[in-house]
Order: sequence, then structure tokens, then C-alpha cells
Amino acid sequence: MADRRPRRRSPAEADPPGTATRRAALRLIDAVLRRGDPLDVAAHAATQGLPPADRAFAVAIVSETLRWMTDLDLLIDGATAQPLPQDVKSRAVLRLALAQLLVLKTSPHAVVSTALPLVDGGPRRLVHAILSRAQQEEWTLPERASLPPETAERWSAHWGDAMVEAAEYAWSAAPPVDLSFAAEPDTAEWEEAQPLATHHLRLPRGKAIETLPGFREGGWWVQDLAASLPARLLGAGAGRTALDLCAAPGGKTMQLAAAGWSVIAVDSSAKRLARLEENLDRTGLEAAISQGDIRQWQPGEAADAVLLDAPCSATGIFRRHPDVLHRIEPRQIAEMAALQAELLAHAAAWVKPGGTLVYATCSLEPAEGEERIAAFLADNLGWMIDPARTDELPAGIAPTDDGFVRTLPGLLAAAGGLDGFFVARLRAP
Ligand SMILES: C[S@@+](CC[C@H](N)C(=O)[O-])C[C@H]1O[C@@H](n2cnc3c(N)ncnc32)[C@H](O)[C@@H]1O
Repeated sequence: MADRRPRRRSPAEADPPGTATRRAALRLIDAVLRRGDPLDVAAHAATQGLPPADRAFAVAIVSETLRWMTDLDLLIDGATAQPLPQDVKSRAVLRLALAQLLVLKTSPHAVVSTALPLVDGGPRRLVHAILSRAQQEEWTLPERASLPPETAERWSAHWGDAMVEAAEYAWSAAPPVDLSFAAEPDTAEWEEAQPLATHHLRLPRGKAIETLPGFREGGWWVQDLAASLPARLLGAGAGRTALDLCAAPGGKTMQLAAAGWSVIAVDSSAKRLARLEENLDRTGLEAAISQGDIRQWQPGEAADAVLLDAPCSATGIFRRHPDVLHRIEPRQIAEMAALQAELLAHAAAWVKPGGTLVYATCSLEPAEGEERIAAFLADNLGWMIDPARTDELPAGIAPTDDGFVRTLPGLLAAAGGLDGFFVARLRAP
């Protein structure tokens, strides 16, 4: 006898076009917010099986959702009698849908029709009602994206309210693209490019890197101007030896090699060192590569200069990585600071007498910058700060009163801003 039960439709058959992309976005934001995975690490698995354009769209939805999440939540909470719990699926679906409506300007029909299947078996009516209200009442977002409240409080206490406001403006859109060059670029070959320093050009955001002139020839690499400052403080190498510690994927290794240093690049990650090797191959620059954990690794001999670009909370690169401020908590900052202290002690032991140690982190937390160096100097008599000089830095970036380089949001804002970095140059006894 024939089976009379209605045939169950698979989710893929039932879903309107574009739903698979939103399902991937939902998996991705869950990986970031619930598991604490970095966005770029989780993106591959979460979007597997989608064509490249849909993968990119899923990542764009999640990036904009994370950038505007504090403001999106305010809108959602203003429309519900009782706030939805932070971690329920309906809140995640609403965040993703509103980011599409209000930031990416996706067609409302596409947004609603692809959001509802994600809450099948859940509060579909609530989600539908809020998305309808958003359209009817023409909801908008504020001029600048609010930081997560914990970050705003912490940064306000360290740096003041003006820094928080500047950070919010900086966070509201993806930043421009900076290129570092092995040799001085010919600006005539680059449309729309702005030099902000020697060996540097800034391009408007959204440029497809592989299509830029000279990518294959390898005369340049992508590197935020702030990230180029630590190696700038070591100047020309003239064949002297430099240890580049925590080197991968090699932005600073390439700068040092291009400036004439004989470089040994050390990193614990084989995968990241493979990228460093690819970068050296593409640019034709030379460095010895060594895999190892700085806490166990030993150099053959001490070096004229050591650059330690220490692992850190990465809160300074929040413009490019809008997941960071949602993942990083004081506990992780304290753990990173303890690791940095350990790495700094090893790095210092490998500097020749009278040689130079540059310590850098892409963090906006004093615990990973100013406080690390103060603690190091207190424990290591004879070491001195070798103050950074204005003439070594790009125009508009001045050393601090202590002789450090500290790039805060708001610096060079009219030109597109900078990542948050801390750099100290120290002289060995
Ligand atoms: C900030 S990133 C380095 C960026 C790099 N200097 C550049 O300019 O492209 C930090 C690096 O530290 C490495 N790292 C973390 N802990 C380490 C350790 N204990 N020993 C060696 N490398 C480590 C990570 O693998 C990562 O590549």
C-alpha cells in the first residue's frame, strides 16, 4: 500500500533563496559570542559549502552585526516588553537581520524571508513583528557605533572619554588599506593612494588586494601604518643582526630585511611561519626562519637588536576585527600580560651589551604596554628607555613624554586613523 503520509520537506527545499547564507552567519556569530572563537578563524568552518560570494556575504553580515551590536541590542530591547536573554537564538537572528536592514541596506523582503526560517519552532511572530516595526518606524542607527559597555568603561578610565568617542567613530566603518614597500614607491603608479610615511601608501577601504599593481612582483605587503612603527624604530640595519621574535606572518620581518638587517624570524606557529615563508618568497626578501616557543628557544648568539611583537589581547586592531571587543575580558588581558612579561625576560637576555630591544603590542590596554615596560625596568637595572624621536615617526605621530609610541584612536583620524599600538625602545646595559 502506498504511504499516504505527507512527504517531509528538507530544510533546504523549504528555505527561500539566501537562507543558507544566513544560517552560516548564525553559526559564525554563535562561534564568536558563545565559544569565543576569533571571527577569521571560525569563518572557514561556519561558511563551508557556500559559494565564495555567499561566504563573503555571511562574514560581512556578522562583521557589521558585531560592530553595531550594542546599538542593535538597544533597538531590540526597546521593542520587547521583557528583554530577550542575551544568548537566545531569536536575539541573534534579530541582530543579524537588523544589521542587514540598517547597515548593509539589504532588501527588506530578502532580510525577513531569510530570517524567519532560522527561528522555526521558536518565536517567529515576535521576530516578524520586530522586523516589521523596524521598517514601519524607519529605525536608524546612531552616527557612531557604541563600544561594548565594559570596553567603554575600561578605556574611559585609562584614556578618557574623548578616546572612547574617537574609538567609536573609528569602529563605525572598516578602515583603509595600508601598504608597506621594500623600496620607496612611485606614487604616479598609484591612483587614489596617499603616502603618510616613507615606504608607505594608504588606499581607500575595500580594495581587492590581489588586483593591486605589483602584487605578484612583491614590492609591497599589507600592514597598518601603526604596525610598521616598531621596525621603523630600529632604523637601517647595515648588515647587523636582528632577532624578530613572534614574527609570523612577517610584516616586521620584511621591513627589517628591506632595511638591511640580517634577520632571524622566530615564531611558535608552523602554520603562521608557512605564511611568513610565502611572504618572503613573494617579496624576494631574505630572513632565516626558526620555529620555537620563545620560552624554550635559544639563539646561537646574542643579536644587535631584538624586536618582540608580543602576542596580546589585540584590542588595538578592533577596527579590522570587530569580534575582538566582544571576546576579550579582563581575565585574558591579565593572562596575556603575564605571558608578555615572560617573553620580554627571554628577549632581553638575547640582546648584545649596548644593543636595542623593541617591544610592541597591538593592544590598547596599559597592562600590555606602559605597565609591562615599567615592571621590566623595575626588575632589570641598567636597562634604559631609548626615547623614540619625532623625526623617526610619520608626520602627526609624536612620542609620549616617556619616550614611547602610543597610537590611540583619533590619531590621524582625518586620514583614516590608525590601529592602536604600543611601542617601547630599550637600550641594554
Ligand atoms: C602579534 S603576532 C605577530 C605579528 C608579526 N610580528 C608581524 O608583524 O606580522 C604574535 C605572534 O606570536 C606568536 N607566538 C605566540 N606565543 C609565542 C611563543 N610563546 N613563542 C613564539 N611565538 C609565539 C604567534 O604565533 C603569533 O604569530
